[in-house]
Amino acid sequence: MKISIGSDHAGLPLKQKIVNHLKDNGYETNDFGTFTEESCDYPDYALKVAENVKDGNSDFGILICGTGIGISIAANKVHGIRAALCSDTFSAHACREHNNANILALGQRVIGTGVALDIVDTFLKSKFQGGRHQKRLDKLSKIEIKYFK
Ligand code: RB5
Repeated sequence: MKISIGSDHAGLPLKQKIVNHLKDNGYETNDFGTFTEESCDYPDYALKVAENVKDGNSDFGILICGTGIGISIAANKVHGIRAALCSDTFSAHACREHNNANILALGQRVIGTGVALDIVDTFLKSKFQGGRHQKRLDKLSKIEIKYFK
């Protein structure tokens, strides 16, 4: 499974730990940066990862900023992206099972490394349940068509 990943400066240390964790567990990773602690803007990294996922060049994306909020808002502006900000493992499996989330967003300043890695594992192992949830995703797509020009 191929995972694209990106962060701003506030998410850089956690990004590096997640990249190592994914490689240790046999995932292919595509790291879009940032690679230095210099201050940068989370929308730039959200866009790179979101476009990679949207274009089918990776199975899932992982985005990290200080809170996970800005980077998830930015990713969700891209047509077809369903980015879920998670701070617990219940949300990590529910966002796959119910929302078919294709990007996981994390806040490095909010959760510890152990919880973050558990969330990553849970997200990647969980499957979309379809059924009644598909009807709701179809409604999300209709909102995109109405407002995304
Ligand atoms: C950067 O200081 C911080 O604002 C950013 O990482 C993020 O938390 C925004 O939502």
